[in-house]
Amino acid sequence: MSLQDLRRFDVPFDDIKKQREYAAMAKSVLDARMGNGKKLAYVHTFGCQGNVSDSERLKGWLRLIGYSFTEDIERADLVLYNTCAIREHAHDRVFGNVGALKPLKAKNPDMIIVLCGCMMQQEHVWQKIKKSYPYVNLVFGTHSHHRLPELLYKVLRSGKRVFDVFDTEGYIAEGMPVSRDGTFKGWLPIMYGCNNFCSYCIVPYVRGRERSRKSEEVLAEARGLIASGCKDITLLGQNVNSYNRGSDEMSFAQLLREINAIEGDFRIRFMTSHPKDCTFELLDAMAECEKVSKHLHLPCQSGNDRVLGEMNRGYTREKYLSLIAYARKVMPDISLTSDIIVGFPGETYEEFRDTLSLIEEVGFTSLYTFIYSPREGTKAASMPDPVSREEKGKWFRELTSAQENIASKRCQKMLGETYRVLAEEYKGGILSGRTDGSVMIDFPGDESLVGSFCQVKVTAARNWILSGEISR
Ligand code: 5AD
Ligand code: SF4
Repeated sequence: MSLQDLRRFDVPFDDIKKQREYAAMAKSVLDARMGNGKKLAYVHTFGCQGNVSDSERLKGWLRLIGYSFTEDIERADLVLYNTCAIREHAHDRVFGNVGALKPLKAKNPDMIIVLCGCMMQQEHVWQKIKKSYPYVNLVFGTHSHHRLPELLYKVLRSGKRVFDVFDTEGYIAEGMPVSRDGTFKGWLPIMYGCNNFCSYCIVPYVRGRERSRKSEEVLAEARGLIASGCKDITLLGQNVNSYNRGSDEMSFAQLLREINAIEGDFRIRFMTSHPKDCTFELLDAMAECEKVSKHLHLPCQSGNDRVLGEMNRGYTREKYLSLIAYARKVMPDISLTSDIIVGFPGETYEEFRDTLSLIEEVGFTSLYTFIYSPREGTKAASMPDPVSREEKGKWFRELTSAQENIASKRCQKMLGETYRVLAEEYKGGILSGRTDGSVMIDFPGDESLVGSFCQVKVTAARNWILSGEISR
């Protein structure tokens, strides 16, 4: 275990070159051991799109080391879990999955088990893995992704377990290989970490300080994605609105304009936006850029000012509503989605009702709703929390059923309208895909259309599930 307090810096390109050498060395060890046959890796990602994007880079390394990927864990020579710490549920699922690897490892003692990501960044977690899960070979935190080849090589050479977790403000590593999950949809990280310290959230502790990738790097990656046929680019960051904050570099609104100017038929999305940093300038840029989806995911978390204050969100209900009003003024058809936490410590039913009234007032397309989950080390985890889980469950159901009504009314309004939909999946003659506003529509069509934009007329709306047909 190396516990250092390193300052944030960009990883020198020579270090990445060195990692490529480690990848070649790890490959030779594996080839000598296992022959030149196929080496299979099973990679599973828990949590958000940020993790999915990180996994694409980890898979890039694994591919360079000679692994192909399998969905069948029983056949895997290497299992990698990229973990999430955001709520108790994600945390428990990871431990359940790691526990289930024990009999697999007993059957195949050469199997290499790797755990990484947000959960591993927490000391109480990696200590527990160290003590109680002796069959795990390699554990690394969120700051070591660019060093996977070196760490794996260490495991292979020494036969010992390797733990590599340390605290730092965080790095930016460019030049890692990427093995993308899809061809027509691409995740594009523009920044890492978070500085907001919302009082309930573990992210700033496990992901380090906010840092932005250079715009040249982001633009080059965007051009590469588009040249390779990508139709849907999602720019990722915990708080994309503060891209390059505190510097003279390109703002997020400018970045959107630059990507929008790249030639090609594609759409641009982004997440997540923080209401405290969302500006009218950004909403104007969204409105002006024809390739930017008219969809804004703007987590409000609560509709009550006292609760927002305790959450350390940095805005009021009024400020939130003023952003929504401006967004609707400049983009009348904009689709709005949000995240909401129910049962924050000390929240009363009256205060929760302010959240209900907010969602009625805004009329979101959809919501991601969560019951508050205490995270060790956060400020909210030590606040008095008198409301029972059962009671919070009731509030939660009240919220989700209110949202179902709102969504089904919105869906009814979409009947008869035609939307541009990117066909994403095909099953038994039915394609499904999302509109620019991120609404799913099912429609009959040929499998060859997967990855293309189709004009789809909405012909039926059952609650919030839409179906349609290709309109010519
Ligand atoms: N409990 C419940 N929900 C949480 N989120 C973040 N931390 C917690 C927590 N401790 C939710 C927030 C955030 C989303 C990604 O996860 O709504 O926007
Ligand atoms: Fe967590 Fe708040 Fe940062 Fe989002 S903005 S990752 S909720 S601390």
